[in-house]
Amino acid sequence: MTGRPLVIAIDGPAAAGKGTLARRLAEHFGLPHLDTGLLYRAVARGMLDRGEDPADAEAAERTARALDAKELDASELARPDLRTPEVDRAASIVAARPAVRAALRAFQRRFPAERGAVMDGRDIGTVIFPEATVKLYVTASPEARAERRWRELTGRGIAVERAEIAAEIAERDTQDQSRPVGRLVKAEGAVTLDTTDLDPEAAFAAALAAVNAHIGAQP
Ligand code: DC
Repeated sequence: MTGRPLVIAIDGPAAAGKGTLARRLAEHFGLPHLDTGLLYRAVARGMLDRGEDPADAEAAERTARALDAKELDASELARPDLRTPEVDRAASIVAARPAVRAALRAFQRRFPAERGAVMDGRDIGTVIFPEATVKLYVTASPEARAERRWRELTGRGIAVERAEIAAEIAERDTQDQSRPVGRLVKAEGAVTLDTTDLDPEAAFAAALAAVNAHIGAQP
């Protein structure tokens, strides 16, 4: 054993199934889970609530700093209105700001300090925890991801067209892969898990096998 807490870093594009996998792995290993996308969503939500423009760089940085200073009580990330199409758009704008990413980094670094964690996002294995015990890069075809997101939204009673979701996924991929900081790339040493043809059960089995192989390989 290294004596360091177990950190499982999961990165990948929007709607690839990271969240479900992260939750299930956290449950399996008895670890806390942090969906880091919620941090960017909380910044966006706070700005929208105050009538601020998500493109306002100063307001975005101020909001991110305030969020970190409060040590983020969990209720803030449990708000049901963080997953709306409006917040999707605003979050991707604030997430492109280096100052916002820097302000949210300390919280993310502290999160696993005592008990370890499963953390999912875009830059966990590359920027936040390059030293994570295990890194997974979870992906799926754009078509499969659009279909899943469409099912999820319509299941929650949000009326959207499939084509609209496909276009938004494509746009989000471009933003995730082209911002200057926290860009979505596969981390060095990450295991790729393509869930295109996997149901949630098979995806979990594959992720668990990858994690166990790494833990077993720890010195
Ligand atoms: O995973 P998600 O859709 O909830 O993420 C919301 C937004 O935040 C999305 O635009 C990507 C961005 N994000 C990021 O830049 N870095 C992270 N670690 C997690 C999310």
